[in-house]
Amino acid sequence: MYPILLRRDLTETTHLFQIGAPAVARKARAGQFVVVRIDDRGERIPLTLADWDSESVTLVFMEVGTTTKQLAGLKAGEGIQNLIGPLGIPTHIETFGTVVCVAGGVGVAPVYPIARSLKAAGNKVISILGARSKSLLFWEDELRRFSDRMVVTTDDGSYGRKGLVTEPLKEILESSEKIDRVIAIGPSIMMKFCAKTTEPFGVKTIVSLNPIMVDGTGMCGCCRVSVGSVTRFTCVDGPDFDGHQVDWDVLLARQKIYIDEEKLSLETFQHRCQAESLKEVSR
Ligand SMILES: Cc1cc2nc3c(=O)[nH]c(=O)nc-3n(C[C@H](O)[C@H](O)[C@H](O)COP(=O)(O)OP(=O)(O)OC[C@H]3O[C@@H](n4cnc5c(N)ncnc54)[C@H](O)[C@@H]3O)c2cc1C
Ligand code: FES
Repeated sequence: MYPILLRRDLTETTHLFQIGAPAVARKARAGQFVVVRIDDRGERIPLTLADWDSESVTLVFMEVGTTTKQLAGLKAGEGIQNLIGPLGIPTHIETFGTVVCVAGGVGVAPVYPIARSLKAAGNKVISILGARSKSLLFWEDELRRFSDRMVVTTDDGSYGRKGLVTEPLKEILESSEKIDRVIAIGPSIMMKFCAKTTEPFGVKTIVSLNPIMVDGTGMCGCCRVSVGSVTRFTCVDGPDFDGHQVDWDVLLARQKIYIDEEKLSLETFQHRCQAESLKEVSR
């Protein structure tokens, strides 16, 4: 068992777990992920390392379906049966010059250790943090600590600048400041449009892809993506790729292939939870 040492609710549907996993923590690098399984009947899901110390790793996840909702039901003191990692190739860090880090929604969690490493390597870091609305924003102060400049956007204008992250990104690229690299992490659609925004400016843009994964070790082929017309496995060849080379249509289509099964699984899970709470009440 991997013990949950700390649980913190960052928004209504986004949670932070600090999990005791010294062997994983000691090898962790920015950009890597782990595959977790709650119990022996559980589904394996990939989650990015948001932080770590010598004894534990920090994961931040958003409730979207059965497994993330099940995970959200766990408390500090409980545990997770399996946690494998660190997996994937760490984000390439060097002194590039000025790097714009774009974080969308829960993407701020993986961006945070990357911004920290970029800063430690002597880069100037400009961060753009975006969410649909103020209630979904978190880690603004944490990211600011490693940013020379920061812009916050919300789609509905409830906090910061109203609009999408691509708007300040385009303005920064159009300004006189030389931008050497962009790193964009968030929903696939956001990463796609960040890559489309930077392409005319010829600025290398790294994205962290999130296809459906099963084993996370290059065996099942489930996480395949097309990058520069070559099939790559996200779990072992990524998750970071050149955003200008990604075939976004293939990624977005493949992310939806199990949508009916995911819906059915969530409905079954919610019925089971309701039945269990009714049983509790009647006792
Ligand atoms: C390398 C990697 C790192 C990830 N890191 C994080 C992280 O740090 N925090 C976090 O919250 N999530 C992360 N994800 C996404 C996370 O793994 C999925 O949200 C999770 O597997 C969903 O499981 P579920 O059973 O709750 O939902 P499912 O029933 O599997 O899916 C419910 C809904 O979420 C969508 N969905 C499922 N999988 C993904 C996915 N991979 N990306 C986007 N949408 C998806 C489905 O289309 C569906 O609409 C990562 C994914 C990858 C590949
Ligand atoms: S998840 Fe199976 S090959 Fe990548």
